[in-house]
Amino acid sequence: MRNKLKIGLFGFGCVGSGLYEVLNQSGLFNAHIEKIVVKDPAKDRSLPKNQFYYDPDVILEDLEINVVVELIDDAEAAYEIVTKAFKKGKHVVSANKKLIAEHLIELLTLKDEYGVSFLYEASSCASIPVIRNLEEYYNNDSLTGIEGICNGTTNYILTRLNNELRSFEEILKDAQDVGFAETDPTLDIDGFDSKFKLQILILHTFGLITTPQEVLNIGIRHIKEKDILFAKEKGYRIRLVSFARRIEEKIVAYVAPQFVRDSSFAYDINFEFNGVSIEALFSDKQVFIGKGAGSFPTASAVLSDISALQFDYKYEYKKLDECKATLANEAFLRAFVSSSDPESLKQIEFLEVDEEFVSQDYAYKVGTISLSQINHDLYRTHPELFISFFADSEICLHDPTKENKKAVNV
Ligand SMILES: NC(=O)c1ccc[n+]([C@@H]2O[C@H](COP(=O)([O-])OP(=O)(O)OC[C@H]3O[C@@H](n4cnc5c(N)ncnc54)[C@H](OP(=O)(O)O)[C@@H]3O)[C@@H](O)[C@H]2O)c1
Repeated sequence: MRNKLKIGLFGFGCVGSGLYEVLNQSGLFNAHIEKIVVKDPAKDRSLPKNQFYYDPDVILEDLEINVVVELIDDAEAAYEIVTKAFKKGKHVVSANKKLIAEHLIELLTLKDEYGVSFLYEASSCASIPVIRNLEEYYNNDSLTGIEGICNGTTNYILTRLNNELRSFEEILKDAQDVGFAETDPTLDIDGFDSKFKLQILILHTFGLITTPQEVLNIGIRHIKEKDILFAKEKGYRIRLVSFARRIEEKIVAYVAPQFVRDSSFAYDINFEFNGVSIEALFSDKQVFIGKGAGSFPTASAVLSDISALQFDYKYEYKKLDECKATLANEAFLRAFVSSSDPESLKQIEFLEVDEEFVSQDYAYKVGTISLSQINHDLYRTHPELFISFFADSEICLHDPTKENKKAVNV
């Protein structure tokens, strides 16, 4: 028996208007958008003005509406809408990664308290059906890692930097002109958006709840043309990767640029495309690739959530109860650090240096570093540094250089 879904839609921008179209074309006859709430009464829209409301309570206090679809671009207003919708016994579908990542525990507790469903497939990689797969399909296979290119804006910029060898500032400006980057690009280029998505992926991969403060995000703002040249000469491309891997009972997680080779799933994911690689004990690596943004692709994931609500679908979060792992507060890995000011390379302590180069206006080092010395403050206060890790190098919980020395002494 399918439930009849009476939808209150918040937001009629890129995704909201896409959902309206996609739902009309989908043949999902059990679901109907009853009311739409937006913000700006003066805006011209593709539907007649009398179809829009501006007071959230028009939806939230409507007893007939049983599903709220929240597709607005304001995480704080979304928090008010979603929590009130739960309290009114309404199921919620959202695409808002910032809202979810910042309020994970509270939202999960509240939706349980009021016995409603909260689905958010579009929040992680837009059209790529990763969350429901992590919840359902990989339920019995032990997941060991997840890596994603989860942000179309930075991938677009990095692809063009690789192809055109122009400055970051020039390509960012182009990306803004063609609508692939926001006027304020901070959330994208400093890796916050990728981090919010990673937090959601970590929850559904390992059952671990994290806060934005706990997960490192460093972005691509400080990349230089010489860094791209270095990568090209060595057969790498640079990608901004959302990374989480379980090692013993620790989860190493970060968002950072990575040098990837053609053996990596990320190498051929170009422009605004997203990709996710899931690693499990038995099935090994599997890769999903698809559109990580855009009106119809994102709306397709929202539609899929709405469709699942016909059958009372809820995420079960089984891994939450079983999770024994905690976030690692230390890890060792191979890094590349470059600077236009050679002196400032001293900010990063290398345990072992494999390669280095110094000239008057550019220097780099490649070698093993401890991850704990990289933090948000260092990234913010040293705009001259570009830091990137290597996708093909091992990541360890213990200092591998000490282990090597022990082996030599023996
Ligand atoms: N765009 C994508 O490709 C994409 C992909 C994945 C996830 N998402 C997520 O989807 C959500 C929507 O993104 P979008 O790109 O569709 O944004 P958008 O094009 O900027 O549209 C935002 C919509 O939200 C409405 N709005 C803002 N504050 C509101 C409030 N307080 N009450 C009611 N309505 C309000 C705006 O109203 P007005 O029309 O009156 O201004 C507008 O219709 C965001 O959480 C975003 O992160 C987007």
